[in-house]
Amino acid sequence: MDIASYLAEKRMLINEALARFIPPSKELHHTVVEAMRYSLFAGGKRIRPILCISGWEAAGGGDAAVMPFACALEMIHTYSLIHDDLPGMDDDDLRRGVPTCHKKFGEAAAILAGDALLTEAFYLMTDPRLYPGLDPARLLGAVNIVAERIGYRGMVGGQMVDVESEGKESSLELVQFIHRKKTAEFIQASVVSGAYLAGASSDDLSAFARYGLHLGLAFQIRDDILDVVGESRIMGKPQGSDKIHHKVTYPSAVGLDRSRQSEEAEIREAIRSIEHMNSRSDPLKAIALYLLEREH
Ligand code: IPE
Ligand code: IPE
Ligand code: MG
Ligand code: MG
Ligand code: MG
Repeated sequence: MDIASYLAEKRMLINEALARFIPPSKELHHTVVEAMRYSLFAGGKRIRPILCISGWEAAGGGDAAVMPFACALEMIHTYSLIHDDLPGMDDDDLRRGVPTCHKKFGEAAAILAGDALLTEAFYLMTDPRLYPGLDPARLLGAVNIVAERIGYRGMVGGQMVDVESEGKESSLELVQFIHRKKTAEFIQASVVSGAYLAGASSDDLSAFARYGLHLGLAFQIRDDILDVVGESRIMGKPQGSDKIHHKVTYPSAVGLDRSRQSEEAEIREAIRSIEHMNSRSDPLKAIALYLLEREH
C-alpha cells in the first residue's frame, strides 16, 4: 500500500478537525487559545491520532466517528511537548520548526496552554454528542485506557524519571523504563483506544497492545538516535539536546549501532504482534515499517 499517501490523507483530515475543535478566540482569555493553536498547528506528524484511527479501522470501525477522540490524543501529545520544552524540563527553544511555546508566549502562557490542551482533550473524549451511535460505556472504557497511560503511571511518570536521571549513568534497564513510560504507553493507548471504540475482541486488544508498545519503544529509540545523527532543519527541533542535558538515552546506554538494532527488533515485534490479522490491519503494519526509516 502507499503508506505516504495514507498518512498524508489522514493528517489532512485530522488538521481540519482540529481547526474546527479549537477555533481562534476573541474572548479576554484569547492569549491561551493563541498559544494552544500556535503549538498545535505548527506542524507535527500526527502519529498518535493516526494510530487511533488505524486501530479503529483495523478493528472494523466505519467512517469518521472516531475523529474527535483521535484529535483529543493530538491535544494531549501537544501539551506534553509544550511542557517537555519548558526551562524546568528540557529547556529547548525550537519545536515543530518554530520557537517553542514558552519562547513565543512566555512561561505562564505555555504552562496554561499545556494545561488547557490536556483538559480540552478530556472535554472532547467525553462528549457523547460527538459520538452518535457509540455506546457511552465504550467511550468511558476508551478514556480510561488513555488516562491510565498518560498520568503518573505512564507518561508523566516517565517524564519525571527522565528529568531526574539527567547526569546519571545510562543503563539499558533505566532507559527502557523511561522509554516505556514517557512514550510507548501513550502510543500504545492511541491504537488500543481506537480498537476498543470499534469493539475489538479481548484477544485482538491484547495483540494491538503488544503492537503499540513495541512501536512506541521503537519510536523513542529512533527519537534518541535522531537527537545524535538527525538534522535540526528536518526534525524541526534541536539536534544534540540530549547530550547537552546529559540525558539517559538509548545511544548513551548501548551506542548507536545497538540502538539501531533494537529499533529494528522492536518494529519487527510490533508487526509480528498483528501479523495474523486481516488486511484491515495493513496500514498499522505499513506505519511500523515507515517509522523505522523516519528522519523527523
Ligand atoms: C516527539 O513526538 C516526542 C516524543 C515522544 C518522541 P513526535 O515525534 O511525534 O513529534 P511531532 O508530533 O511529530 O512534532
Ligand atoms: C519526550 O521525549 C517525551 C514526551 C513525553 C514529550 P523527548 O524529550 O526526547 O522528546 P523531544 O526529543 O524533545 O521531542
Ligand atoms: Mg524530554
Ligand atoms: Mg525534549
Ligand atoms: Mg528526544
